[in-house]
Amino acid sequence: MTDWFRKKDVNTLLAQSNERKGSKTLGALDLTLLGMGAIIGTGVMVLTGLVAARDAGPAVILSFILAGIVCAFAALCYAEIASAVPVGGSAYTYAYITVGELVAHLMGWTLLAVYVLMISAVASGWTGYLNNILESFGIGIPVEWMTIPADGGVVNLPAVLMVLFMTWLLLRGTKESKTVNNIMVFVKLGVILLFIIVGAFYVEPANWTPFMPYGTSGVLAGAAAVFFAFLGFDAISTSAEDAKNPQRDMPKGIIGSLAISTVIYVLVCVVMTGMASYKELNVPEAMAHVLHLVGRNEVAGIIAIGAVIGMMAVVLAYIYAATRVMMTMSRDGLLPRSFTKQNKNDAPSVALWFIGGVSAFVAGFMDLKQLADLANIGALLTFVMVGLSVILLRRSHPNLKRGFVVPFMPIIPLLSIASCVLLMVNLPFRTWIIFGIWLVIGVVWYFVYAKVRGPIHK
Ligand code: ALA
Repeated sequence: MTDWFRKKDVNTLLAQSNERKGSKTLGALDLTLLGMGAIIGTGVMVLTGLVAARDAGPAVILSFILAGIVCAFAALCYAEIASAVPVGGSAYTYAYITVGELVAHLMGWTLLAVYVLMISAVASGWTGYLNNILESFGIGIPVEWMTIPADGGVVNLPAVLMVLFMTWLLLRGTKESKTVNNIMVFVKLGVILLFIIVGAFYVEPANWTPFMPYGTSGVLAGAAAVFFAFLGFDAISTSAEDAKNPQRDMPKGIIGSLAISTVIYVLVCVVMTGMASYKELNVPEAMAHVLHLVGRNEVAGIIAIGAVIGMMAVVLAYIYAATRVMMTMSRDGLLPRSFTKQNKNDAPSVALWFIGGVSAFVAGFMDLKQLADLANIGALLTFVMVGLSVILLRRSHPNLKRGFVVPFMPIIPLLSIASCVLLMVNLPFRTWIIFGIWLVIGVVWYFVYAKVRGPIHK
């Protein structure tokens, strides 16, 4: 019974992590780029226009700022705990050292679901952009091979292939995928800056009135929707074991990538809503769309190519993060041991194929639009856990070396927890039910598999 609350000892964990050999290749810049690779993607490229048109009007700018503030509280908490306990596993590990094994298992279980959902969601959205580009070159993919069965197609094949390609890339090791990731992130940032600079010349301030056509409730609904756009800074904490100097660099990577992304998002919103009436933004590829509206078709084409590359970086970052969580859980005996197996490039090959395979399957056959909320509820729950862990760890280990400390304790973590709970209660009831079922399966797994086998504390 008491095993449910068995905790890991922080000092043992840190000593084990230091002993573990692996490729410690990531510096502060790499971590920031890894974060931006995971953050900037479908959210800003697909949701901005839709949320402006349907929920918030030009005040989508405020929705982004609001969601950014909620994430900033969480990011400060992540920065402290990731610098104090720079080992793999993220919220899973933080729960293990502060609350206990069963809650930790459920956090890991949640993280895996969130990451797989996000990989699949981003991959299925990616197909639309890819198709736009191929069509402009006169190459047509039969529509049934880009469409899931529920929508009358066979499979979303490009999404499946893209996820498998990213998995293969990660199998080649952290160093190689880091280089590709950095290139993809620079391309993505390049096209977004191009959009901001070119678009700024076409801004008509009249488009900003009325600023809040759907009132405050529209801004709040918009904030809940664009929350998705900020997810990714949290994924950096899963790569602590690959960082050269995690205590110094994790906080820089987490806070830096979120801050830069927020500035970029706000600028994109300001320019986009200034270029056209919000009523005209009800399309998934709004960045390219507004450029077409002002006659800059060549720039729109470049933006579309950048979006395709940018979304691939998001998929790469999340496959990477998911396998890190899996490895940590399997080291502890909560998942099969084979997930820790590494190939000659130090990449966890079994975990990579498992996460890549499941995500590719989900992306190819399932409609994930309605499941985006599920990813959000899971992510919010992990943010709540991280806020709680920061408070608990300060109490239990006040003298632990921290590369960063959250100011105004415990106000910031409490604000983080409260704002996340607020967003969670605003999610649909159905989302709570499905998420609850997933957690119940997690509990069953814990007792049937992990408890029969018994955890391995190396
Ligand atoms: N933040 C990531 C995106 O918007 C998930 O694609």
